[in-house]
Amino acid sequence: MKDYWYKDAVFYELYIRGFQDSNGDGKGDIPGLTSRLGYLRELGVDCIWLLPMYPSPGHDDGYDIQDYKGINPEYGTLEDFKFFLDEAHMRGIRVIADLVLNHTSDRHPWFIDARKGPSSPYHDYYVWSDDPGKYSGASIIFINHETSNWAWCPDCGSYYWHRFFSHQPDLNYRNPKVQEEMIDVIRFWLDMGLDGFRMDAVPYLFEREGTNCEGLPETHAYLKRIRAMLDEKYPDAVMIAEANQWPEDLRQYFGDGDEMHMAFNFPLMPRLFMAVKQEHHGPIVDIVKRTPVLPENCQWATFLRNHDELTLAMCTDEERDYMYNEYAKDPQMKLYSGIRRRLVPLLEKNYRKVELLNVLLFPLPGSPVIYYGDEIGMGDNIFLGDRNGVRTPMHWNDNRNAGFSACNPSRLYAPVITDADYSYTSVNVQVEEMIPNSLLNWMKKMIRVRRKYKSFSRGALRFIYPENKKVLVYALEYDGEQMLCVFNLASSSQPVQIGLREFNGCGLTEVIGDTEFPQIGDSDYQVTLGPYGYYLLEIKH
Ligand code: GLC
Ligand code: CA
Repeated sequence: MKDYWYKDAVFYELYIRGFQDSNGDGKGDIPGLTSRLGYLRELGVDCIWLLPMYPSPGHDDGYDIQDYKGINPEYGTLEDFKFFLDEAHMRGIRVIADLVLNHTSDRHPWFIDARKGPSSPYHDYYVWSDDPGKYSGASIIFINHETSNWAWCPDCGSYYWHRFFSHQPDLNYRNPKVQEEMIDVIRFWLDMGLDGFRMDAVPYLFEREGTNCEGLPETHAYLKRIRAMLDEKYPDAVMIAEANQWPEDLRQYFGDGDEMHMAFNFPLMPRLFMAVKQEHHGPIVDIVKRTPVLPENCQWATFLRNHDELTLAMCTDEERDYMYNEYAKDPQMKLYSGIRRRLVPLLEKNYRKVELLNVLLFPLPGSPVIYYGDEIGMGDNIFLGDRNGVRTPMHWNDNRNAGFSACNPSRLYAPVITDADYSYTSVNVQVEEMIPNSLLNWMKKMIRVRRKYKSFSRGALRFIYPENKKVLVYALEYDGEQMLCVFNLASSSQPVQIGLREFNGCGLTEVIGDTEFPQIGDSDYQVTLGPYGYYLLEIKH
């Protein structure tokens, strides 16, 4: 019997540069991160996901990799990294890292050599063409920055393919050598003790004329090959797919339980935000019903925010307009096809709403991923370029640079948030640890509650439809455990009658406060909820 640890895990995404600086150069680093492991242990997370830590010119925050088997010298050394892994493991925390299979930096030695032309042994590591009209069915992702997926290489007189920035040439997976190289990279890190990967941009590995070049059968076949290797040599390792796709297409990344262990639930995320704005359970019910059931050894990764813009790629045009209208009132907040804001500013610092969204996420099918800083309600800075406004230094306390670095403030890689409404002087770990009702303490409690009830992570979900559509109700069941989850999506108090006759005679316990509720009788069960209120109830026979 395998336990599939990732199915019950709480993940924590963090940006090494933004977490803790140990040597006063104004940038976070691995020794700094290691020194903060106690905090993460206290918070209760099971697995850290690191943004890319490899050597990189840093034109896309490390998603432009120069050496797949090294550590960015600004972050530390391989030794520092190994020490960090050991220290994390000692505290029962696993670590996964981003792996960018699709493309390298244009400064990668392979690409530098490849530019020489077909005489280079590395030329065929990349995708070239004389015709920039090739693969015209593929969309352009960074629409504000790029006008084509082809860029001209004057050295060899041909175009190279790139799905992201032009400084990120795509690797050519039709070349068996490339396939081998990347499998070798995966072995390298797992041998060192890493627990898996967040697989960046996986739909785009292979391209083929006449398609949109996303999720081709060739791509799935290669991912399955990686999985087979993992199952054989590293059976505890996990791979999470970043595939920004509709549920039906996303489902394919799980194969028959022989491809990705997990995939981010991109379609669900914006609908959580829609539901609380519309004060209607429809968006959540519709998308969950459309979400396929997964093989037993698979799990969704659910999230509210991450290091990118809040992507609206999995929205209809109408839904996207709605989201922009409601959540990006200042045009400066828009980026690519999304919104570059952090969680609490998106929710206008309404902590009831912040709690509701988090508590919605925790018992929905999947393993939640918390984005660093969101657990203390950090603000953002929409005036920093690209997605940098959601990657500013972590706020630890109200000392200089929020306790993040001892450097002169002007040396920081990005300023800490000083705007009065989100200033690091009050929004920080130390202050929130002192306040019993802070968001941080509430998050800790929720993580513990989730851990106690396996049906929150693994349960089969069944909606119950009350007449009051401002309220979302569903039942969860796993291994004899039964839960009832009730959420008020509205900003006003709401009464609701819930059809629970099948549970006639059962008791109910609210599990966050451990409070007995009235027994279920033979008529509709009636509860009232305050604005954005919620109940997580255990049904007792
Ligand atoms: C993924 C990352 C994003 C990066 C892109 C290109 O979408 O999340 O931050 O820019 O891949 O590697
Ligand atoms: Ca540093």
